[in-house]
Amino acid sequence: FLAQIGPDALLRMILRKPPGQRTGDDLEIIYDELLHIKALSHLSNTVKRELASVLIFESHAKAGTVLFNQGEEGTSWYIIQKGSVNVVIYGKGVVCTLHEGDDFGKLALVTDSARAASIVLREDNCHFLRVDKEDFNRILRDVEANTVRLKEHEQAVLVLEKSPRASSLGNIKYTVMSGTPEKILDHFLETMRMDTHHADPDDFVLMHCVFMPNSQFCQLLMLCYIFNPVCTYHAVAPPGSEQERLEYAATSKRRVLNLALRWAAVHTHHLQEEQAALTFLEELYRSVSNDSRILRALKDFVPDLEKVVKLHIGMKSQKVLLREFSNGDERLAKKQPIRNCDEILLKVYCSDHTYTTIRVAVAATGREVTSAVADKLASNDDLLLVHLSSAGEKQMLKPNDVSVFSTLSINGRMFACPRDQLNALTPLPDQEGPSAGSMSSFELMSSKDLAYQMTLYDWELFSCVHEHELLYHTFGRQSFRRTTANLDLFLRRFNQVQLWVVTEVCLCGQLSKRVQLLKKFIKIAAHCREFKNLNSFFAIIMGMSNPAVSRLTQTWEKLPSKFKKFYAEFESVMDPSRNHRAYRLTVTKIEPPIIPFMPLLLKDMTFSHEGNKTFIDNMVNFEKIRMIANTIRAVRHCRSQPFNPEVCQPNKNHAEVRGYVRKLCVIDNQRTLTTLSYRLEPRRT
Ligand code: CMP
Repeated sequence: FLAQIGPDALLRMILRKPPGQRTGDDLEIIYDELLHIKALSHLSNTVKRELASVLIFESHAKAGTVLFNQGEEGTSWYIIQKGSVNVVIYGKGVVCTLHEGDDFGKLALVTDSARAASIVLREDNCHFLRVDKEDFNRILRDVEANTVRLKEHEQAVLVLEKSPRASSLGNIKYTVMSGTPEKILDHFLETMRMDTHHADPDDFVLMHCVFMPNSQFCQLLMLCYIFNPVCTYHAVAPPGSEQERLEYAATSKRRVLNLALRWAAVHTHHLQEEQAALTFLEELYRSVSNDSRILRALKDFVPDLEKVVKLHIGMKSQKVLLREFSNGDERLAKKQPIRNCDEILLKVYCSDHTYTTIRVAVAATGREVTSAVADKLASNDDLLLVHLSSAGEKQMLKPNDVSVFSTLSINGRMFACPRDQLNALTPLPDQEGPSAGSMSSFELMSSKDLAYQMTLYDWELFSCVHEHELLYHTFGRQSFRRTTANLDLFLRRFNQVQLWVVTEVCLCGQLSKRVQLLKKFIKIAAHCREFKNLNSFFAIIMGMSNPAVSRLTQTWEKLPSKFKKFYAEFESVMDPSRNHRAYRLTVTKIEPPIIPFMPLLLKDMTFSHEGNKTFIDNMVNFEKIRMIANTIRAVRHCRSQPFNPEVCQPNKNHAEVRGYVRKLCVIDNQRTLTTLSYRLEPRRT
């Protein structure tokens, strides 16, 4: 009998038996077959033996048969034993064809979400080996391949990898490693849960401008929203009952809306600068208002969306004129971020030290600034735009540079001149900075008040920094054509405080006074740390460790040992070894609100950026995106609680202290500072 029916028919007969009725010989025959299946080649023989006892045979006679539909719950994993199937996605049609030895249907099982595609028989008489979910979880959960790769039209579109933080919940957690922007978005929309919070979709809305412009993001999200499986089938029969289809539509739409709201929350006022974004929000709002009459599950999104739309439309046309770009700007005192569309009055100097004041947009390019200057001067010359430091160093600004003014050094100035005058450019006298220290004005102010006012100011600057500015800074703002003015101001402040310390010490001629100064700065630093203002804390300590200050041995010798101990402790927090471990430990021990040591965070992001490609084989390297998003999330964490300005009672000279810390005059030329330092305490011979 066996010889008569042939090996294939025998195998099929065995596979048709309910698993419980298979004999030892049966299992041996199935096992032999499994040894030759491509989809199982990476699995151990033990696993194959286990599979032999649970695999179920399933066959279908007619091409066009739908094995399962996109959006349905996933219940099994399949291997094609004979024949071929098409993978069909709503709105895309057939994205790929799978053949004998291929497998499918794993995604829904491992991500615990709905089917990402429909499977349609491509020919008559196809045979499958099926593993049902429970068996799959029991046998394959821990040994299943580490990566899942999805293809569309022969191109890889999504790569998932088993997460090292494998969940204990039974289903395997896979995370996105790379993918095309569109497929990653689809994947997040399909696997998003409304009840629990997932970081990955958040990373996507935060970071998408790196690989997908806002206009495209809006367009895709709108398509996902409008597209409705109830009416578009693309060669696939409608899934389930009318009721099921409505539920599927509502779930999909709710996910889109959830993501859109998160997106708006991350972009905040940047949305007003892009018409595509505003149009999208309005359109979405209109559609939801309509749909919510049929799909009541959408109702709770209407008020939230309305609020967002009204807020942005209302603020769109408000433009603000900034006077000069410098610290202590009144605009910043009102805690309003500088936007690209705001305008600025900019002083641009000529080689003879006269200047013109021009009015340009904050995001103006080098070219726009030069042409505004040429207009004002009625000059036909080709002008060069030059950043001139107090030390006389020239840096040519490129025509395509965006928002050129915001990265000027502390005492740097912007010059415009014809090429033949370039060599004749000299710094303005006021670029040198002060010739006398200001100790007499601040020695009477209490260290705590000074630290408090410095912290208030830092908070104003820090709060104005948009999360996206960190991105633009990391990936190069030229490619985004966006300003990073708020971040630049905050970073400038760090340099300014640092230079303030060096300047004051180097301008203090009397030894005993200098000792007093060191004590004062150590006290201010200690209070800054109490206020969890690590940015100014570091700036002060770094100022004190500047060679022009640290070499003043006579001064340091006279410092009381208590202060020496404090300083040594502070310096140890700054120790850069083991990737700034000391600082990182300090930060993890304190609760927000925190003003972080910003230059280090930027360094982390630059490190992630430069060490990793953004695209791998035309797919976004989402691992890199996640790394950078994590750092931005650290910044978000620091600001997650408001700074409570009531900590310090305002005292009578509060306005004076406030005015002082906002207008620190410094020498920013290291050579000058070093010369001054040698004059105070000449080299010992
Ligand atoms: P699952 O989501 O469970 O059901 C549909 C299956 O189609 C999916 O798992 C994958 O195994 C398979 N598939 C193959 N290519 C793709 C693709 N490009 N997109 C989505 N699913 C695909």
